[in-house]
Amino acid sequence: KNVLVKRLWLQETMASVSSSSLLNKAVRQQYMGLGQGGKCQVTYIWVDGTGEGLRNKTRTLDSEPTCIEEIPEWNFDGSSTYQAEGSNSDMYLIPVRMFRDPFTLDPNKLVLCEVLKYNRLPAETNHRHSCNQVMQQVKDHCLWFGMEQEYTLLGVDGHPFSWPSKGFPAPQGPYYCGVGANHAYGRDVVECHYKACLYAGIQICGTNAEVMPSQWEFQVGPCEGIEMGDHLWVARFLLHRVCEDFGVVATLDPKPITGNWNGAGCHTNVSTQQMREEEGLKYIELAIEKLGKKHKQHIEVYDPRGGKDNMRRLTGLHETSSINDFSAGVANRGASIRIPRQVGKDKRGYFEDRRPAANCDPYTVTMAIAQTCLLDPT
Ligand SMILES: *[C@@H]1O[C@H](CO)[C@@H](O)[C@H](O)[C@H]1NC(C)=O
Repeated sequence: KNVLVKRLWLQETMASVSSSSLLNKAVRQQYMGLGQGGKCQVTYIWVDGTGEGLRNKTRTLDSEPTCIEEIPEWNFDGSSTYQAEGSNSDMYLIPVRMFRDPFTLDPNKLVLCEVLKYNRLPAETNHRHSCNQVMQQVKDHCLWFGMEQEYTLLGVDGHPFSWPSKGFPAPQGPYYCGVGANHAYGRDVVECHYKACLYAGIQICGTNAEVMPSQWEFQVGPCEGIEMGDHLWVARFLLHRVCEDFGVVATLDPKPITGNWNGAGCHTNVSTQQMREEEGLKYIELAIEKLGKKHKQHIEVYDPRGGKDNMRRLTGLHETSSINDFSAGVANRGASIRIPRQVGKDKRGYFEDRRPAANCDPYTVTMAIAQTCLLDPT
């Protein structure tokens, strides 16, 4: 009977995996080992008109670029990425940060781009442009961020990866940081993504299984200013690309499964030079006081739909605060802002904004925090 159950389970799992992942990867390996005649493949990556989706395309350069300035601008058809404006559908790709390509390997590159419209103004979903301006203004504060990206693995059919096709897995409890085939679903994806990030040069600092089965998180940081958004967006690109190889899908939906299952957030650690120094706690408290006055404005930019996505997640249950209330506390996971216990003890360090949704744009999140905590009057 056990063998039969196992076989049925395997069939279900295979059915939820895309057919491209079943292509022969050993054959692919032969071509990946070919020389490329001194040329360099550069993959341009950008955020599309949804503010959540990522797009990419690749070109050949005659030699390996040694810095971002050596990568030329490019363009694409915005009418196919929800980005066109009227009859002017040509959009510009402006390279802003370069990484090593963990899929086709050295000397090839991944390059994150800002998108400009035909008139060279930032596209609607290019929030990097204004974020960068704010980060320049506050750069003397040496503002550091760390973001914890939670995500959920799905089959291509949209069903949570490895969940029984009818019914649910056992309730939450054994999955957070769990081990074993009955507790950890899809670890291959997580480990390969981690390696890919390190190879690429992403400032990834950790990973763990989350509370809901098939839910995981990785952490990126510490990153200074605009670097935070750059590294997180490319880490997301790598996640989707690794998932593609395995034939599964990573969703950043903040509440992928309704009911008694945890949602997915993007908790954001924040500190300034002053907060990290002795007696820094008073600067943390000052920042929290300012954040409290702007709760609504922050919620509006903590997901791509002005708070509508986060409303499903920030219920006050499942280790969240209510979307309508602002709260802060030491070691309190039910608060909007958490001061880690160690920070309370040391009286210096950082605070954690637990409100951003998993599908937030890290540029709008870090920009709002910088603006409120450092540029608003006391
Ligand atoms: C944020 O802080 C928590 C501790 O409060 C830590 O466990 C986590 O790794 C940090 N994450 C990042 C991305 O810095």
